[in-house]
Amino acid sequence: MAETFNELILPDEKARRYEVVAEEIAAVLAGEPNVVARMATVTSMLANSFDYYFWTGFYVVDPLRGDELVVGPYQGTLGCMRIAFGRGVCGTAAATRTIQLVEDVHAFPGHIACDGRSASEIVAPVFGPDGALMAVFDVDSDRPAAFDAVDRDWLERILAATFSHPV
Ligand code: SME
Repeated sequence: MAETFNELILPDEKARRYEVVAEEIAAVLAGEPNVVARMATVTSMLANSFDYYFWTGFYVVDPLRGDELVVGPYQGTLGCMRIAFGRGVCGTAAATRTIQLVEDVHAFPGHIACDGRSASEIVAPVFGPDGALMAVFDVDSDRPAAFDAVDRDWLERILAATFSHPV
């Protein structure tokens, strides 16, 4: 895997790059049912494929509380531990079950600034095989308006392929 997964073979064009990374993620995770392993692998492979990803990771629905997210596997600077449903971008994605694409985090009401360098972000809900919300996947960038419809469509696709089917 290491020989094929590196900058040299990843296409420059963003959609093509997502396509290749999505295939690699599926290949690496084939037959691995552990959810933490799957989340950690998705996080690592995406964070290392796009240089505008600054903070990349999962906030998982806390099974003990139900309406609160707790930090899961991530790559980046120290993240907040817990986020209530409805708070900030992650909490909004969890409460509404819809992907949030935020071009300017400072203009988003209630944005939670774990790291002041974050300028834009995308947060996608993650659904398990039973259709229930299990987590949100949060990518922050230190660049303004770093994410667009290509990121949105491919992240939705990768997350559905990785978490929404029984392994
Ligand atoms: N930006 C997020 C908080 C999580 S961290 O940035 C890692 C939000 O407003 O939901």
